[in-house]
Amino acid sequence: MASQKIYILAIESSCDDTAAAVLCNDTILSNVVANQSIHKAYGGVVPELASRAHQQNIVPVVDQALKKAAIDKSQLHAIAFTRGPGLMGSLLVGTSFAKSFAFGLGIPLIDVNHMQAHILAHFIDEKDYKKPPFPFLAMTISGGHTQIIKVDSYFDMEVIGETIDDAVGEAFDKSGKLLGLGYPAGPEIDKRAKLGNPKAFAFTKPKVDGLNFSFSGLKTAILYFVQKQVKANPNFVEEHLNDICASIQYTIVGILMDKLKSASKQTGIKHIAIGGGVSANSGIREALMSGEQKFGWTSYIPKFEYTTDNAAMIGIVGYLKYLEGDYAEQRVMASARLKI
Ligand code: KG4
Ligand code: ZN
Repeated sequence: MASQKIYILAIESSCDDTAAAVLCNDTILSNVVANQSIHKAYGGVVPELASRAHQQNIVPVVDQALKKAAIDKSQLHAIAFTRGPGLMGSLLVGTSFAKSFAFGLGIPLIDVNHMQAHILAHFIDEKDYKKPPFPFLAMTISGGHTQIIKVDSYFDMEVIGETIDDAVGEAFDKSGKLLGLGYPAGPEIDKRAKLGNPKAFAFTKPKVDGLNFSFSGLKTAILYFVQKQVKANPNFVEEHLNDICASIQYTIVGILMDKLKSASKQTGIKHIAIGGGVSANSGIREALMSGEQKFGWTSYIPKFEYTTDNAAMIGIVGYLKYLEGDYAEQRVMASARLKI
């Protein structure tokens, strides 16, 4: 099996990115993402618009992925798709497309858990990229999730900590919205944080038991802080934007690192991986790298293109499941709240 070339088409449509990728075994031949800019005007993802945009994008995105990979659909061995978690209307577009395409081609259909995919993206074969050995800890940080997961093998994962309210990406995006930044604000806060002083303003970290997280209090603290400062100086936000962004990022990274340190101590595992959109953040990347010296960790940080939502990560899970003959049936349903 290993010497055979397995071609897999992967489709991701769980939120507001329509994505398709073609893999040959564990290497990526193409990785196409169509972002939906329509949501910017609303300051957040509008589910109904997302699902409509997926319908418009899916055929051209798949077509482009096949063309870029120089693979004809007749060469495909299987179609992998995101079954969940995500927005139901969005998931349905990818799910129904994948089902009909696999049925039409007479090839296996493979369902993929989006959160598992953020973790297993580390097993995409890339030059000079070391893959984590089992067991390792994975922190998935995105717009919808914040979890620490103990990964014992590809499909044996245990959630050992998670957010009890907002996801960390939401903390970035909602804080940014308060500051008048566009959606999603995470990348903009990151950019500005590089130009500001992380210790300019102090925000208290939430006290949450065990390995769980909470971010809703931070958002409120930032809101009150901004309101108070603006009362005294209406131009406060404009005048201190970089420092505010740096301080918010510093606080959020501190919250994430505190829990990761505890998780590593508790499990004795020092191989630490991150995944999900927020792992593109320069502050968390630096903190994780410095953990190598400070705590004797080996850190695993995915390539940028595999951090935010993409289909390459769906494809690698598809390939691993293909090797095990773990296929989905045609009656498989999208699942908005699918768990790891
Ligand atoms: O994984 P993802 O693309 O979609 C979800 O599954 O949610 O994550 C999107 C989230 C958004 O909240 C966005 O603001 C955040 O990732 N994000 C960042 C950065 N790049 C993306 N947050 C902080 N710093 C970044 N550089
Ligand atoms: Zn995601």
